[in-house]
Amino acid sequence: MTKRLLLVAACALVDADGRVLISQRPEGKALAGLWEFPGGKLEPGERPEETLIRELHEELGIEVKEECLAPLTFASHNYEDFTLLMPLWICRRWEGTPHGREGQAVKWVLPRKLRDYPMPPADEPLIPMLIDMIPAR
Ligand code: C5P
Repeated sequence: MTKRLLLVAACALVDADGRVLISQRPEGKALAGLWEFPGGKLEPGERPEETLIRELHEELGIEVKEECLAPLTFASHNYEDFTLLMPLWICRRWEGTPHGREGQAVKWVLPRKLRDYPMPPADEPLIPMLIDMIPAR
């Protein structure tokens, strides 16, 4: 049987202090309690960048311009019932103050502290990249 492909677009928001935003998956959702980079599933007809801009607005209440999204990597993970493909961007400029609009907890964390927060497997490869890219404080 061919596994379903799930396409998710996600992003590391980095603030002026070099901290990265992570968001906790709420109770009742798959992988509840894990911390992830914000983002979500592609809807039909959307480009991944459009998905990300929509999700960042819906989940965090911020406005992001497409030119502020820099591609970072392409993560993937084989789950039992689907294969996840997840392009990841980094973004340092947006309008508004990110807050959990869907009741989820959000946290700003220095890259070297990200390992203290359990994450879904596809998000983990981003951690060493962020440690390398963002100067230590
Ligand atoms: O958030 P949502 O449940 O729509 O995401 C669908 C799936 O995408 C999750 O079950 C999870 O496997 C994956 N995901 C992820 N990392 C993210 C966002 C989603 O692994 N940052």
